[in-house]
Amino acid sequence: MSKTIRENDSVVLMDGKGNRILLTVESGIKKVKDLGVYDPGDLIGANYYQQITIGNKKFMIMAPSISDKITAIERKAQIILPKDGMFIIFYCDIKSGDKVIEGGAGSGALTILLANSVRPKGKIISYEKRDEFIKIAKKNLIRAGLNEHVNIVKKDVTENIKEKNVDAVILDIPNPWDAIDNAFCALKSGGHVASYSPTVNQVEKTVKKMRECGFSGIKTLETLQREMVVGERGVRPSFNVLGHTGYVSFARKVS
Ligand SMILES: C[S@@+](CC[C@H](N)C(=O)[O-])C[C@H]1O[C@@H](n2cnc3c(N)ncnc32)[C@H](O)[C@@H]1O
Repeated sequence: MSKTIRENDSVVLMDGKGNRILLTVESGIKKVKDLGVYDPGDLIGANYYQQITIGNKKFMIMAPSISDKITAIERKAQIILPKDGMFIIFYCDIKSGDKVIEGGAGSGALTILLANSVRPKGKIISYEKRDEFIKIAKKNLIRAGLNEHVNIVKKDVTENIKEKNVDAVILDIPNPWDAIDNAFCALKSGGHVASYSPTVNQVEKTVKKMRECGFSGIKTLETLQREMVVGERGVRPSFNVLGHTGYVSFARKVS
């Protein structure tokens, strides 16, 4: 049986060309980017994967994927892109039921990926010291339908991490080396730490601190992403490479 759309659901409208519009189903006429003036409340009671016509355009109503949710976020700070976020989730073995500390939340892009990985029973506790980012991260999490899996706390992650026995600590702050001691104390044996930094000197200071703290299996990696253009007459790499964004330093507590 197909699921019915309810008030406050997040939905994607996809046209015949694959263009996607992410909407929150709230009643009231508004201007929607790429759609014009529309009342999303008109979708209440319709079914997912049903075709609808708005104006003279046809759309398929779909449940948003994690990629749709990340693409649609409002950004205020540099975000961790999916190419780096998925890499963090893989190497830190983040999975359903895990308890993960994040510092800081920023716009909440990584928080969305983490929350999607630990749900339904896991939790992300995100330390963020600035109110404006707490506000924007919460807004993005609510829009993504993942807010219930996250606690954003107004705290400096370099001062203290109150939680103990956590599965992973993920840092995206300018001075991650100042939070490495706290990460070590918060982690369970076998827990993972990952630190994302754009510059080499940040990496050097962070890795030095990881060694001093007694972390094991320390390594720093970078990912680059290049699409292949598959044409009728041949296949070639895209000229637009998603190149340097940041380095991720990983380590594990084994004591
Ligand atoms: C680059 S942004 C994080 C972006 C985030 N990873 C994302 O994907 O949207 C860095 C955030 O860390 C916060 N921050 C910086 N130092 C912090 C600290 N010591 N404790 C908590 N938050 C901190 C900043 O206010 C900012 O919001």
